[in-house]
Amino acid sequence: MDGTFNENDISRIVEADRAHVWHHLSQHKPYETTDPRIIVEGKGMRVWDQNGKEHLDAVSGGVWTVNVGYGRESIANAVRDQLIKLNYFAGSAGSIPGSVFSQMLIEKMPGMSRVYFCNSGSEANEKGFKMVRQIAHKRFGGKKHKILYRDRDYHGTTITCLSAGGQDERNAQYGPFTDGFVRVPHCLEYRKHEQDGAPDENYGVWAANEIEKIILAEGPETVGGLCLEPVTAGGGVITPPDGYWERIREICDQYDILLHIDEVVCGLGRTGTWFGYQHYGIKPDMVTMAKGVASGYAAIACLVTTEKVFDMFKDDAADPMNYFRDISTFGGCTAGPAAAIENMKIIERENLLQNTIDMGVYMTGKLEELQDKHPVIGHVRSKGLFLGAELVEDRETKAPVAERLIQAVVGDCMQQGVVIGATNRSLPGKNNTLCFSPALIATKDDINQIIAAVDGALGRVFA
Ligand SMILES: Cc1ncc(COP(=O)(O)O)c(C=O)c1O
Repeated sequence: MDGTFNENDISRIVEADRAHVWHHLSQHKPYETTDPRIIVEGKGMRVWDQNGKEHLDAVSGGVWTVNVGYGRESIANAVRDQLIKLNYFAGSAGSIPGSVFSQMLIEKMPGMSRVYFCNSGSEANEKGFKMVRQIAHKRFGGKKHKILYRDRDYHGTTITCLSAGGQDERNAQYGPFTDGFVRVPHCLEYRKHEQDGAPDENYGVWAANEIEKIILAEGPETVGGLCLEPVTAGGGVITPPDGYWERIREICDQYDILLHIDEVVCGLGRTGTWFGYQHYGIKPDMVTMAKGVASGYAAIACLVTTEKVFDMFKDDAADPMNYFRDISTFGGCTAGPAAAIENMKIIERENLLQNTIDMGVYMTGKLEELQDKHPVIGHVRSKGLFLGAELVEDRETKAPVAERLIQAVVGDCMQQGVVIGATNRSLPGKNNTLCFSPALIATKDDINQIIAAVDGALGRVFA
Protein backbone atom coordinates (compact mmCIF):
# COMPACT_ATOMS: atom_id res chain seq x y z
CA MET A 1 0.00 0.00 0.00
CA ASP A 2 1.60 3.29 -1.04
CA GLY A 3 -0.99 5.83 0.08
CA THR A 4 -2.19 6.61 -3.48
CA PHE A 5 -5.38 4.50 -3.43
CA ASN A 6 -8.65 6.34 -3.78
CA GLU A 7 -11.73 6.20 -1.59
CA ASN A 8 -13.24 3.41 -3.65
CA ASP A 9 -10.20 1.25 -3.08
CA ILE A 10 -10.32 1.77 0.65
CA SER A 11 -13.99 0.89 0.88
CA ARG A 12 -13.22 -2.35 -0.97
CA ILE A 13 -10.41 -3.02 1.44
CA VAL A 14 -12.68 -2.44 4.41
CA GLU A 15 -15.27 -4.79 2.92
CA ALA A 16 -12.69 -7.49 2.24
CA ASP A 17 -11.43 -7.14 5.78
CA ARG A 18 -14.95 -7.33 7.19
CA ALA A 19 -15.67 -10.40 5.06
CA HIS A 20 -12.47 -12.37 5.56
CA VAL A 21 -10.03 -11.16 8.18
CA TRP A 22 -10.23 -12.62 11.67
CA HIS A 23 -8.74 -9.91 13.91
CA HIS A 24 -6.71 -10.86 16.96
CA LEU A 25 -8.26 -10.55 20.42
CA SER A 26 -11.50 -9.25 18.89
CA GLN A 27 -15.23 -9.92 19.17
CA HIS A 28 -16.44 -9.34 15.60
CA LYS A 29 -20.14 -8.72 16.15
CA PRO A 30 -19.72 -4.90 16.28
CA TYR A 31 -18.08 -5.00 12.83
CA GLU A 32 -21.45 -5.94 11.35
CA THR A 33 -22.53 -2.36 11.93
CA THR A 34 -19.26 -0.40 12.28
CA ASP A 35 -16.10 -0.55 10.22
CA PRO A 36 -13.14 -2.54 11.51
CA ARG A 37 -10.10 -0.32 12.01
CA ILE A 38 -7.38 -0.63 9.42
CA ILE A 39 -4.05 1.02 10.04
CA VAL A 40 -2.64 2.21 6.76
CA GLU A 41 0.53 4.12 7.41
CA GLY A 42 2.98 5.08 10.16
CA LYS A 43 5.69 7.69 10.68
CA GLY A 44 7.62 8.27 13.88
CA MET A 45 5.11 8.05 16.75
CA ARG A 46 2.04 8.42 14.56
CA VAL A 47 -0.21 6.15 12.50
CA TRP A 48 -3.07 6.89 10.10
CA ASP A 49 -6.19 4.79 9.69
CA GLN A 50 -8.34 4.08 6.62
CA ASN A 51 -10.18 7.37 7.04
CA GLY A 52 -6.96 9.35 7.09
CA LYS A 53 -7.36 10.05 10.80
CA GLU A 54 -4.07 10.59 12.61
CA HIS A 55 -3.38 8.78 15.89
CA LEU A 56 -0.54 9.31 18.33
CA ASP A 57 0.52 5.77 19.25
CA ALA A 58 1.25 5.52 22.99
CA VAL A 59 1.61 1.73 22.86
CA SER A 60 4.18 1.17 20.07
CA GLY A 61 2.01 -0.77 17.67
CA GLY A 62 -0.62 -1.78 20.22
CA VAL A 63 1.56 -4.34 22.00
CA TRP A 64 4.82 -2.55 22.96
CA THR A 65 6.71 -3.50 19.81
CA VAL A 66 7.69 -0.60 17.53
CA ASN A 67 10.41 0.69 19.86
CA VAL A 68 12.23 2.85 17.30
CA GLY A 69 9.05 4.23 15.73
CA TYR A 70 7.48 3.87 12.29
CA GLY A 71 8.86 4.57 8.83
CA ARG A 72 12.52 3.74 9.39
CA GLU A 73 13.99 3.62 5.91
CA SER A 74 17.38 2.42 7.11
CA ILE A 75 15.81 -0.75 8.52
CA ALA A 76 13.74 -1.27 5.37
CA ASN A 77 16.89 -0.86 3.25
CA ALA A 78 18.89 -3.28 5.39
CA VAL A 79 16.13 -5.87 5.10
CA ARG A 80 15.76 -5.34 1.35
CA ASP A 81 19.49 -5.69 0.72
CA GLN A 82 19.65 -8.84 2.81
CA LEU A 83 16.61 -10.42 1.12
CA ILE A 84 18.16 -9.96 -2.29
CA LYS A 85 21.45 -11.45 -1.11
CA LEU A 86 19.96 -14.39 0.82
CA ASN A 87 16.41 -14.50 2.19
CA TYR A 88 16.52 -17.82 3.92
CA PHE A 89 18.37 -20.91 4.88
CA ALA A 90 17.48 -23.30 7.71
CA GLY A 91 19.00 -22.43 11.07
CA SER A 92 21.13 -25.57 11.17
CA ALA A 93 23.48 -23.34 9.14
CA GLY A 94 24.59 -19.86 10.13
CA SER A 95 23.94 -16.59 8.30
CA ILE A 96 25.87 -13.33 8.06
CA PRO A 97 23.23 -11.16 9.79
CA GLY A 98 22.60 -13.90 12.38
CA SER A 99 26.28 -13.99 13.25
CA VAL A 100 26.69 -10.21 13.36
CA PHE A 101 23.57 -9.66 15.44
CA SER A 102 24.49 -12.42 17.92
CA GLN A 103 27.84 -10.74 18.52
CA MET A 104 26.22 -7.32 18.99
CA LEU A 105 23.56 -8.74 21.30
CA ILE A 106 25.93 -10.70 23.52
CA GLU A 107 28.05 -7.54 23.95
CA LYS A 108 24.96 -5.99 25.58
CA MET A 109 24.40 -9.00 27.85
CA PRO A 110 27.49 -9.67 29.99
CA GLY A 111 27.46 -13.24 31.26
CA MET A 112 25.32 -14.52 28.38
CA SER A 113 26.77 -16.37 25.46
CA ARG A 114 24.52 -18.19 22.95
CA VAL A 115 21.66 -16.98 20.76
CA TYR A 116 18.97 -19.34 19.42
CA PHE A 117 16.81 -17.72 16.71
CA CYS A 118 13.09 -18.29 16.27
CA ASN A 119 10.14 -16.09 15.39
CA SER A 120 7.79 -15.26 18.25
CA GLY A 121 7.93 -14.63 21.96
CA SER A 122 5.77 -17.69 22.62
CA GLU A 123 8.08 -19.85 20.58
CA ALA A 124 11.19 -18.55 22.35
CA ASN A 125 9.62 -19.29 25.73
CA GLU A 126 8.64 -22.80 24.64
CA LYS A 127 12.25 -23.40 23.65
CA GLY A 128 13.30 -22.38 27.16
CA PHE A 129 10.80 -24.84 28.64
CA LYS A 130 12.07 -27.58 26.33
CA MET A 131 15.63 -26.93 27.45
CA VAL A 132 14.64 -27.29 31.11
CA ARG A 133 12.88 -30.56 30.30
CA GLN A 134 15.78 -31.94 28.27
CA ILE A 135 18.28 -31.05 30.98
CA ALA A 136 16.02 -32.78 33.51
CA HIS A 137 15.99 -35.95 31.41
CA LYS A 138 19.71 -35.93 30.72
CA ARG A 139 20.93 -35.07 34.21
CA PHE A 140 18.19 -35.78 36.71
CA GLY A 141 16.41 -38.88 35.43
CA GLY A 142 13.49 -36.71 34.29
CA LYS A 143 12.75 -35.66 37.86
CA LYS A 144 13.77 -31.99 37.89
CA HIS A 145 11.20 -31.13 35.23
CA LYS A 146 8.80 -28.68 36.90
CA ILE A 147 8.70 -25.09 35.77
CA LEU A 148 7.49 -22.33 38.05
CA TYR A 149 5.63 -19.31 36.68
CA ARG A 150 4.04 -16.35 38.42
CA ASP A 151 0.52 -15.16 39.02
CA ARG A 152 -0.32 -12.29 36.57
CA ASP A 153 2.63 -13.00 34.20
CA TYR A 154 2.09 -13.96 30.55
CA HIS A 155 4.51 -15.92 28.40
CA GLY A 156 2.63 -16.52 25.19
CA THR A 157 -0.33 -17.90 23.40
CA THR A 158 0.35 -21.60 22.78
CA ILE A 159 -1.21 -24.18 25.07
CA THR A 160 2.10 -24.77 26.88
CA CYS A 161 2.79 -21.05 27.21
CA LEU A 162 -0.71 -20.66 28.65
CA SER A 163 0.17 -23.52 31.03
CA ALA A 164 2.85 -21.11 32.26
CA GLY A 165 0.39 -18.23 32.16
CA GLY A 166 -0.65 -16.45 35.34
CA GLN A 167 -3.71 -14.78 33.82
CA ASP A 168 -6.77 -16.91 34.48
CA GLU A 169 -9.11 -15.07 32.17
CA ARG A 170 -6.71 -15.36 29.27
CA ASN A 171 -6.31 -19.08 29.95
CA ALA A 172 -10.03 -19.78 30.43
CA GLN A 173 -11.57 -22.29 27.99
CA TYR A 174 -8.20 -23.39 26.57
CA GLY A 175 -7.42 -26.20 28.98
CA PRO A 176 -6.51 -28.90 29.67
CA PHE A 177 -3.00 -27.58 30.00
CA THR A 178 0.47 -29.09 29.93
CA ASP A 179 1.57 -30.86 33.11
CA GLY A 180 4.46 -29.81 35.27
CA PHE A 181 3.85 -26.04 35.55
CA VAL A 182 3.42 -24.61 39.04
CA ARG A 183 2.17 -21.13 39.91
CA VAL A 184 3.89 -18.81 42.40
CA PRO A 185 2.48 -15.56 43.84
CA HIS A 186 2.82 -12.15 42.19
CA CYS A 187 4.94 -9.33 43.65
CA LEU A 188 2.57 -6.37 43.25
CA GLU A 189 3.15 -4.45 46.47
CA TYR A 190 0.14 -2.19 45.86
CA ARG A 191 -2.08 -5.27 46.29
CA LYS A 192 -0.18 -6.93 49.11
CA HIS A 193 -3.20 -6.50 51.37
CA GLU A 194 -4.74 -9.34 49.34
CA GLN A 195 -1.81 -11.66 50.15
CA ASP A 196 -1.83 -13.56 53.45
CA GLY A 197 1.03 -12.62 55.71
CA ALA A 198 2.52 -9.86 53.57
CA PRO A 199 4.64 -7.61 55.81
CA ASP A 200 4.78 -3.81 56.02
CA GLU A 201 8.54 -3.85 55.50
CA ASN A 202 10.80 -5.76 53.10
CA TYR A 203 7.93 -6.88 50.91
CA GLY A 204 10.28 -7.75 48.02
CA VAL A 205 12.26 -10.29 50.04
CA TRP A 206 9.03 -11.69 51.47
CA ALA A 207 7.50 -12.09 47.97
CA ALA A 208 10.61 -13.92 46.75
CA ASN A 209 10.60 -16.12 49.85
CA GLU A 210 7.00 -17.11 49.03
CA ILE A 211 8.46 -18.69 45.89
CA GLU A 212 11.02 -20.55 47.98
CA LYS A 213 8.17 -21.96 50.07
CA ILE A 214 6.59 -23.39 46.94
CA ILE A 215 9.90 -24.87 45.82
CA LEU A 216 10.25 -26.58 49.20
CA ALA A 217 6.65 -27.84 49.08
CA GLU A 218 7.10 -29.26 45.57
CA GLY A 219 10.54 -30.65 46.41
CA PRO A 220 13.58 -28.79 45.00
CA GLU A 221 14.68 -32.01 43.27
CA THR A 222 11.55 -31.71 41.06
CA VAL A 223 11.91 -28.02 40.09
CA GLY A 224 14.09 -27.24 37.06
CA GLY A 225 13.12 -23.72 36.01
CA LEU A 226 11.61 -20.43 37.15
CA CYS A 227 10.20 -18.23 34.39
CA LEU A 228 9.45 -14.57 35.22
CA GLU A 229 8.89 -11.27 33.45
CA PRO A 230 11.34 -8.60 34.71
CA VAL A 231 8.44 -6.15 34.87
CA THR A 232 5.07 -7.85 34.39
CA ALA A 233 3.50 -6.32 31.28
CA GLY A 234 -0.06 -7.33 30.36
CA GLY A 235 -0.69 -8.41 33.95
CA GLY A 236 -0.69 -4.76 35.05
CA VAL A 237 2.78 -3.18 34.57
CA ILE A 238 4.11 -4.61 37.83
CA THR A 239 7.48 -3.16 38.75
CA PRO A 240 9.32 -5.46 41.15
CA PRO A 241 9.72 -4.38 44.78
CA ASP A 242 13.17 -3.66 46.26
CA GLY A 243 15.24 -6.70 47.06
CA TYR A 244 13.05 -9.06 45.03
CA TRP A 245 15.32 -9.96 42.15
CA GLU A 246 18.45 -10.31 44.28
CA ARG A 247 16.65 -12.81 46.51
CA ILE A 248 15.21 -14.66 43.46
CA ARG A 249 18.74 -15.19 42.14
CA GLU A 250 19.92 -16.52 45.50
CA ILE A 251 17.00 -18.95 45.65
CA CYS A 252 17.67 -20.23 42.13
CA ASP A 253 21.34 -20.76 42.98
CA GLN A 254 20.53 -22.52 46.22
CA TYR A 255 18.17 -25.05 44.61
CA ASP A 256 19.91 -25.38 41.23
CA ILE A 257 16.99 -23.90 39.33
CA LEU A 258 17.44 -22.22 35.95
CA LEU A 259 16.29 -18.60 35.97
CA HIS A 260 14.50 -17.86 32.70
CA ILE A 261 13.71 -14.16 32.29
CA ASP A 262 11.06 -13.31 29.71
CA GLU A 263 12.19 -10.01 28.16
CA VAL A 264 9.70 -10.21 25.29
CA VAL A 265 8.33 -6.79 26.29
CA CYS A 266 11.21 -5.21 28.24
CA GLY A 267 13.97 -6.32 25.87
CA LEU A 268 15.86 -3.86 23.69
CA GLY A 269 15.43 -0.68 25.62
CA ARG A 270 11.83 -0.40 26.80
CA THR A 271 12.82 0.28 30.42
CA GLY A 272 15.90 2.42 29.68
CA THR A 273 18.45 -0.40 29.88
CA TRP A 274 18.99 -2.95 27.11
CA PHE A 275 17.14 -5.50 29.21
CA GLY A 276 14.83 -5.14 32.19
CA TYR A 277 16.83 -7.48 34.43
CA GLN A 278 19.86 -5.20 34.07
CA HIS A 279 18.30 -2.74 36.52
CA TYR A 280 18.69 -5.28 39.30
CA GLY A 281 22.32 -6.41 38.99
CA ILE A 282 21.45 -10.07 38.54
CA LYS A 283 22.45 -12.64 35.94
CA PRO A 284 19.86 -14.93 34.35
CA ASP A 285 20.48 -18.38 32.90
CA MET A 286 18.11 -17.91 29.97
CA VAL A 287 16.60 -14.77 28.44
CA THR A 288 13.85 -14.66 25.82
CA MET A 289 13.08 -11.63 23.67
CA ALA A 290 10.95 -10.79 20.64
CA LYS A 291 8.82 -7.67 20.15
CA GLY A 292 11.38 -4.86 20.31
CA VAL A 293 14.28 -6.88 18.87
CA ALA A 294 13.53 -5.57 15.38
CA SER A 295 10.70 -3.17 16.38
CA GLY A 296 8.27 -5.18 14.23
CA TYR A 297 10.13 -4.49 10.95
CA ALA A 298 10.63 -8.26 10.65
CA ALA A 299 9.61 -11.21 12.78
CA ILE A 300 12.42 -12.30 15.07
CA ALA A 301 12.71 -13.79 18.53
CA CYS A 302 15.74 -15.08 20.43
CA LEU A 303 16.43 -17.36 23.31
CA VAL A 304 19.79 -16.41 24.81
CA THR A 305 21.59 -18.67 27.28
CA THR A 306 24.79 -18.78 29.27
CA GLU A 307 27.65 -20.93 28.05
CA LYS A 308 26.97 -23.20 31.03
CA VAL A 309 23.46 -24.00 29.76
CA PHE A 310 24.75 -24.40 26.20
CA ASP A 311 27.44 -26.81 27.38
CA MET A 312 24.83 -29.17 28.77
CA PHE A 313 23.73 -29.78 25.17
CA LYS A 314 27.15 -30.62 23.83
CA ASP A 315 29.21 -32.08 26.66
CA ASP A 316 28.39 -35.69 25.81
CA ALA A 317 28.88 -35.87 22.06
CA ALA A 318 28.88 -39.67 22.23
CA ASP A 319 25.19 -39.56 23.23
CA PRO A 320 23.21 -39.22 19.98
CA MET A 321 20.40 -37.46 21.88
CA ASN A 322 22.63 -34.92 23.63
CA TYR A 323 21.95 -31.81 21.59
CA PHE A 324 18.98 -29.45 21.42
CA ARG A 325 16.79 -31.34 18.97
CA ASP A 326 14.67 -28.36 18.04
CA ILE A 327 14.10 -26.30 14.92
CA SER A 328 12.18 -23.20 13.95
CA THR A 329 11.67 -22.96 10.19
CA PHE A 330 11.29 -19.22 10.15
CA GLY A 331 14.11 -18.86 12.67
CA GLY A 332 16.22 -19.14 9.52
CA CYS A 333 14.76 -16.01 7.89
CA THR A 334 17.55 -13.50 7.52
CA ALA A 335 15.24 -10.45 7.50
CA GLY A 336 14.92 -10.72 11.30
CA PRO A 337 18.57 -10.33 12.27
CA ALA A 338 19.17 -7.85 9.41
CA ALA A 339 16.41 -5.64 10.84
CA ALA A 340 17.62 -6.25 14.41
CA ILE A 341 21.16 -5.06 13.61
CA GLU A 342 19.89 -1.74 12.26
CA ASN A 343 17.34 -1.45 15.09
CA MET A 344 20.13 -1.75 17.65
CA LYS A 345 22.31 0.73 15.76
CA ILE A 346 19.45 3.25 15.78
CA ILE A 347 19.02 2.90 19.54
CA GLU A 348 22.73 3.59 19.98
CA ARG A 349 23.07 6.31 17.34
CA GLU A 350 20.08 8.27 18.65
CA ASN A 351 20.89 7.67 22.31
CA LEU A 352 17.43 6.21 22.85
CA LEU A 353 18.21 4.46 26.13
CA GLN A 354 18.92 7.84 27.70
CA ASN A 355 15.83 9.32 26.09
CA THR A 356 13.80 6.44 27.52
CA ILE A 357 15.08 7.18 31.01
CA ASP A 358 14.53 10.93 30.68
CA MET A 359 11.10 10.70 29.07
CA GLY A 360 10.12 7.91 31.48
CA VAL A 361 10.83 10.23 34.41
CA TYR A 362 8.93 13.04 32.68
CA MET A 363 5.89 10.91 31.88
CA THR A 364 5.82 9.36 35.36
CA GLY A 365 5.72 12.88 36.82
CA LYS A 366 2.88 13.81 34.48
CA LEU A 367 0.89 10.69 35.44
CA GLU A 368 1.43 11.55 39.10
CA GLU A 369 0.06 15.02 38.44
CA LEU A 370 -3.01 13.35 36.95
CA GLN A 371 -3.19 11.19 40.06
CA ASP A 372 -3.36 14.37 42.19
CA LYS A 373 -6.25 15.56 40.07
CA HIS A 374 -8.22 12.33 39.52
CA PRO A 375 -8.97 10.26 42.64
CA VAL A 376 -9.69 7.27 40.39
CA ILE A 377 -5.93 6.83 39.79
CA GLY A 378 -4.93 4.62 42.69
CA HIS A 379 -1.35 3.84 41.72
CA VAL A 380 1.20 4.85 39.09
CA ARG A 381 3.97 2.37 38.23
CA SER A 382 6.78 2.78 35.74
CA LYS A 383 10.21 1.77 34.54
CA GLY A 384 11.50 3.87 31.64
CA LEU A 385 8.85 4.21 28.95
CA PHE A 386 6.84 1.36 30.35
CA LEU A 387 4.10 2.82 32.49
CA GLY A 388 0.83 1.83 34.11
CA ALA A 389 -1.91 3.63 36.03
CA GLU A 390 -4.17 1.41 38.10
CA LEU A 391 -7.70 2.77 38.45
CA VAL A 392 -9.70 2.13 41.62
CA GLU A 393 -13.19 3.01 42.83
CA ASP A 394 -11.84 4.00 46.21
CA ARG A 395 -8.27 4.68 47.28
CA GLU A 396 -8.83 3.16 50.73
CA THR A 397 -10.34 -0.17 49.67
CA LYS A 398 -8.46 -0.23 46.33
CA ALA A 399 -11.54 -1.83 44.75
CA PRO A 400 -10.73 -2.05 41.02
CA VAL A 401 -12.90 -0.07 38.60
CA ALA A 402 -14.89 -2.19 36.14
CA GLU A 403 -13.17 -3.23 32.93
CA ARG A 404 -15.87 -1.54 30.85
CA LEU A 405 -14.89 1.83 32.39
CA ILE A 406 -11.24 1.20 31.60
CA GLN A 407 -12.28 0.44 28.04
CA ALA A 408 -14.34 3.64 27.99
CA VAL A 409 -11.17 5.60 28.85
CA VAL A 410 -9.27 3.82 26.08
CA GLY A 411 -12.13 4.53 23.65
CA ASP A 412 -12.32 8.19 24.61
CA CYS A 413 -8.56 8.59 24.03
CA MET A 414 -8.96 6.86 20.67
CA GLN A 415 -11.64 9.41 19.73
CA GLN A 416 -9.12 12.09 20.57
CA GLY A 417 -6.56 10.47 18.30
CA VAL A 418 -4.39 8.91 21.00
CA VAL A 419 -3.97 5.13 21.22
CA ILE A 420 -3.41 3.92 24.77
CA GLY A 421 -3.61 0.36 26.15
CA ALA A 422 -5.18 -1.41 29.12
CA THR A 423 -5.13 -4.81 30.78
CA ASN A 424 -7.96 -6.69 29.10
CA ARG A 425 -9.70 -10.03 29.68
CA SER A 426 -6.62 -11.22 31.55
CA LEU A 427 -7.19 -11.10 35.28
CA PRO A 428 -10.65 -11.86 36.65
CA GLY A 429 -12.00 -8.61 38.15
CA LYS A 430 -8.63 -6.89 37.87
CA ASN A 431 -8.38 -5.56 34.34
CA ASN A 432 -8.10 -2.05 35.72
CA THR A 433 -4.69 -0.77 34.62
CA LEU A 434 -4.11 1.72 31.82
CA CYS A 435 -0.88 0.90 29.97
CA PHE A 436 1.51 3.21 28.16
CA SER A 437 4.55 2.24 26.15
CA PRO A 438 5.32 4.99 23.65
CA ALA A 439 8.22 4.48 21.26
CA LEU A 440 11.66 5.22 22.71
CA ILE A 441 11.81 8.33 20.49
CA ALA A 442 8.96 10.02 22.41
CA THR A 443 9.36 13.76 23.09
CA LYS A 444 7.86 15.92 25.82
CA ASP A 445 5.33 17.23 23.30
CA ASP A 446 4.21 13.67 22.48
CA ILE A 447 3.88 12.87 26.17
CA ASN A 448 1.96 16.08 26.85
CA GLN A 449 -0.50 15.08 24.11
CA ILE A 450 -0.96 11.61 25.63
CA ILE A 451 -1.45 13.05 29.11
CA ALA A 452 -3.95 15.66 27.90
CA ALA A 453 -6.00 12.91 26.23
CA VAL A 454 -6.01 10.77 29.38
CA ASP A 455 -6.88 13.79 31.51
CA GLY A 456 -9.88 14.59 29.30
CA ALA A 457 -11.00 10.97 29.12
CA LEU A 458 -10.84 10.46 32.91
CA GLY A 459 -12.79 13.68 33.41
CA ARG A 460 -15.56 12.49 31.09
CA VAL A 461 -15.73 8.81 32.06
CA PHE A 462 -15.61 9.45 35.82
CA ALA A 463 -17.54 12.74 35.86
C1 LIG B 1 5.89 -11.02 28.40
C2 LIG B 1 5.46 -11.68 27.13
N1 LIG B 1 5.99 -12.86 26.80
C3 LIG B 1 5.66 -13.50 25.67
C4 LIG B 1 4.73 -12.98 24.81
C5 LIG B 1 4.36 -13.73 23.58
O1 LIG B 1 4.95 -13.18 22.47
P1 LIG B 1 4.37 -13.49 21.00
O2 LIG B 1 3.03 -12.84 20.90
O3 LIG B 1 5.41 -12.89 20.09
O4 LIG B 1 4.30 -14.96 20.86
C6 LIG B 1 4.15 -11.73 25.11
C7 LIG B 1 3.16 -11.13 24.19
O5 LIG B 1 2.49 -10.18 24.48
C8 LIG B 1 4.50 -11.08 26.30
O6 LIG B 1 3.93 -9.92 26.65
